[in-house]
Amino acid sequence: MARRRRIYEGKAKVLFEGPEPGTLVQYFKDDASAFNNAKTGTITGKGVLNNRISEYLMLKLAEIGIPTHFVRRLNMREQLIREVEIIPVEIVVRNVAAGSICERFGIAEGTPLPRSIVEYYYKADDLNDPLVAEEHITAFGWSTPQELDEIMHMSLRVNDFLTGLLVTVGIRLVDFKLEYGRLWNNDEMRIVLADEISPDNCRLWDLKTNEKMDKDRFRRDLGGVEEAYQEVARRLGILPESAPGDLKGPAVMQ
Ligand code: TMP
Repeated sequence: MARRRRIYEGKAKVLFEGPEPGTLVQYFKDDASAFNNAKTGTITGKGVLNNRISEYLMLKLAEIGIPTHFVRRLNMREQLIREVEIIPVEIVVRNVAAGSICERFGIAEGTPLPRSIVEYYYKADDLNDPLVAEEHITAFGWSTPQELDEIMHMSLRVNDFLTGLLVTVGIRLVDFKLEYGRLWNNDEMRIVLADEISPDNCRLWDLKTNEKMDKDRFRRDLGGVEEAYQEVARRLGILPESAPGDLKGPAVMQ
């Protein structure tokens, strides 16, 4: 089979040309990075788990009417997605103070926020993804005010839905990052959820113990990174079938 054309390679994923026009194949790597690539490493089996977790969550969101780029999972590490024009803004929704908001405002980690807070960051690695206001987004033309309004409302719906879904499996959704894209159909355009939703871009804490079950374990050298991602997948009931070199198979009982 002819080698597929690589369209884009990011820190955790690669995008290849898809089988039909308007589609792409999103390949999930085990590579991990933090602090704008200052720290890099490998989380064994992460790509397989994130492929499954993101598939599961995107399909659940589609069921409540959130449009997404996800089409279907192709194999252990790849999913077919619709090609979208990515809006260069990362949307972070926070329920509990953690990470950069703690440093920015001097809040203790774990402090519940008075209400969910939506923040915007400009996607620009060379500038360290700066926090921006709606004014910057619309004035610089990264999105229109109407698009941003839709993005904000969709993000809050995603937050409400995922918060509820995760509570049922004993996980607190502390915060997460979303990306959106424009999906064109002739002259019509829709805003759709893109990228991925996984422990790479969410903070997930055990509801009872507050133990971290996300990429903060890698960022802060807490150990047990692979196990944390596996536990999220296990609780969601989606631990993937094993494949050589990807994940350990089920333990054989003696
Ligand atoms: P922060 O506390 O570092 O600003 O991160 C907030 C949330 O957004 C956290 O769940 C991690 C996620 N995030 C990404 O997925 N990519 C990024 O580049 C950044 C800065 C945060």
